[in-house]
Amino acid sequence: MTSPEALATELTRARERTLALVDFDDAELHRQYDPLMSPLVWDLAHIGQQEEFWLLRDGDPSMPGLLTPEIDSLYDAFVHSRASRAELPLLPPADARVYCATVRDKALEALDRTDGDEALFRFGLVISHEHQHDETMLQALNLRAGPPLLSAGTALPAGRACVAGTSVLIPAGPFTLGVNASEEHYSLDNERPAHTVHVEGFRIGRVPVTNAQWREFIDDGGYRTPRWWSANGWAYRAQAGLVAPAFWNADGSRTRFGHRETIPDDEPVQHVTYFEAEAFAAWSGARLPTEVEWEKACAWDPVTGTRRRFPWGDAQPTPDLANLGGDALRPAPVGAYPAGASAYGAEQMLGDVWEWTTSTLRPWPGFTPMIYDRYSEPFFDGAGAGDYRVLRGGSWAVAPDILRPSFRNWDHPIRRQIFSGVRLAWDV
Ligand SMILES: [Fe+2]
Repeated sequence: MTSPEALATELTRARERTLALVDFDDAELHRQYDPLMSPLVWDLAHIGQQEEFWLLRDGDPSMPGLLTPEIDSLYDAFVHSRASRAELPLLPPADARVYCATVRDKALEALDRTDGDEALFRFGLVISHEHQHDETMLQALNLRAGPPLLSAGTALPAGRACVAGTSVLIPAGPFTLGVNASEEHYSLDNERPAHTVHVEGFRIGRVPVTNAQWREFIDDGGYRTPRWWSANGWAYRAQAGLVAPAFWNADGSRTRFGHRETIPDDEPVQHVTYFEAEAFAAWSGARLPTEVEWEKACAWDPVTGTRRRFPWGDAQPTPDLANLGGDALRPAPVGAYPAGASAYGAEQMLGDVWEWTTSTLRPWPGFTPMIYDRYSEPFFDGAGAGDYRVLRGGSWAVAPDILRPSFRNWDHPIRRQIFSGVRLAWDV
């Protein structure tokens, strides 16, 4: 188990990141950039409210908190849709900052008195939650119209363009899917438990699909040719008028966090829907991987017959191994992380772009809900709003503190404000 001192450090790292993403004036924080996203001031107070709920109120809504019940309920993500949040009587930014700081002080005091795996797990959950909202806030800032608020991002390693379009073989055989809390203490409920599954042989892209490859699809009429698309995908393409990835402009440039720039050929394509990913794969003579295939290609070591903690081994992620943490504000060129390759040679499995898979979200056999029991279960098997597809691997915006090969994300197949990309697979 991570020590309380290490958890305190991770909490601080998450908070520094959050505060940097809300370091704007009050009017900016109240703006709703897009109906898909919350105003930043909602995310800020929600981060504090969830921290208070899980760490100081024992996850018990009847236990009184620092906010009045009326204000507290404004930050329940299941009650208020993102599109409606700008109209709510939210805490003003200054009050939200004070509230978050007060909760944090009490949480750190509580951490000093905490032991036991379950109690410490809650701190890990809160760290994961805060970082996940930081990524959401980056999605919002990317949708924002107007001159940039953020820089164009930090430098990234050079790529190896020669790896674009190449693939690696994953021979048939069993592997261990998922993880157990005993080895991955901060894994979330939907990643558990570890169990053995057989996977037929397949090939998978060594790296994600690039902008240059996507340009070929466009130039070949990919967006005008129904045979590459599923029926639902083609209908959505027409309804939404899709002709290119989101944020690509008609003059061949793209807009990223308000910066208009040349589209880099060798960068993984970003901001495509599941439907576009599926059509691109069909046009390529390929398909998308299942999430089980993806996880095997990422984490399995066929020589030792065991899982690796990370694609490259046990070492914690560093800037030499993967593009994570959010400072780059974009994916790295393909081939930028040869040292981060999996046992099978697949590169950039973690970081850069979330990768669409064909899988719907379902529980692994033996699934047990964690204390935050609405995190996964309401989304299983097409429940609720339904029709979710799993994305794997994390994007450049995911914090290294919270990412594992077993981490599962999911979204509607029409979404593309997320930092989503594509890795192809082939039957053998
Ligand atoms: Fe949340």
